[in-house]
Amino acid sequence: MKNLIRKASEAIYRSKLTLALTGAGISVESGIPDFRSAEGLWAKYDPSEYASIQAFRRDPEKIWDMLRDMDQLVSKAQPNAAHLGMGEMERIGFLHYIITQNVDNLHQEGGAKNVIEYHGNSSTLSCLWCGKHYRAEEKRNETIPRCQCGKVLKPNVVFFGEDIPPEALDHSFQLASSAEVLLIVGTSAAVSPANTIPSIAKSRGAILIEVNMEKTHLTSSLTDIFLEGKAGETIPALVSELKRYRDNPISA
Ligand code: APR
Repeated sequence: MKNLIRKASEAIYRSKLTLALTGAGISVESGIPDFRSAEGLWAKYDPSEYASIQAFRRDPEKIWDMLRDMDQLVSKAQPNAAHLGMGEMERIGFLHYIITQNVDNLHQEGGAKNVIEYHGNSSTLSCLWCGKHYRAEEKRNETIPRCQCGKVLKPNVVFFGEDIPPEALDHSFQLASSAEVLLIVGTSAAVSPANTIPSIAKSRGAILIEVNMEKTHLTSSLTDIFLEGKAGETIPALVSELKRYRDNPISA
C-alpha cells in the first residue's frame, strides 16, 4: 500500500489540474451512512418509494420520515480526517476542485473552498409552491417543516427525477476534460451523470486514483491506482506523502 500511496502522491504532485469526485463513503466516518453498503440508507428506505421528486410531491410527510433521520445525523456530523485532508490538499495547492454527490456540507466545513455540489445541499429548504427559502436549522424543531404558506418544505437536494444544477454539470464536465488527475473517493459510481466524470477524465488522459473500502465497477475498467481502505486513513496518508514531495522536490 505504501508504494501505491507514493505512486498516487507523485502523480498528484506533478499534476497541473487535480479534481476529486466524492460520494457518501467519504462521510461514513462522520456517522452518516452511505446508500448502497449493507447498512446503507437504501437498506432502510426503498429509494423508489422515498427518493424521487414524484414520491415527495405525492406524500411529502412520508418522505420527511427519511429526511428527518438523515437531518439528525447530518446536523451532528463533523468533517472527518478525509474531509480535512482534502481541505488541506486544496490549501497547499495539490487539489483544485471537488465534485461531490454529497449534500452534507462536510467538504466546506473541512476547509475546501472549490466544491461543486451535484446533488445540492441539505442546509437550506424551499417551498415548491411559493418559493420561500429557509435555513434547515430554523425548522429543525418541526417534525414536518412547513412554509408560512402552510405547504411542506423540501430540502434543496436533488431527488431522483430532478435535474443536476446546470452550472454544476457544465463546470464539472469542462474540468473533467482537462484534468490530469481525478481522485475518486467513496463512491460506487452507480448514479449518472456523476458517474460519467471518470470516463470523461480518462478519455482525455487523466490518471484515475480510486479510494474505496472495496472494488467498484471503475476499479477494473478505468482506475489506474486503487487505494483500498477507509478514506479517513488513506487521504491523510496521501497528504503527508505530498508534503514530503513538496519539501524534498523530486526532479520534474
Ligand atoms: N472510506 C472509503 N469508501 C467507503 C467508506 C469509507 N469509510 N465507507 C463506504 N465506502 C464506499 C462504499 O464501498 C461504496 O463504494 O463508498 C461507496 C458509497 O457508495 P453509495 O452508497 O452508492 O454512495 P454514492 O456513490 O455517493 O451514491 C451516489 O446515489 O442514491 C444516490 O443521491 C444519492 O448521491 C447519492 C448517489
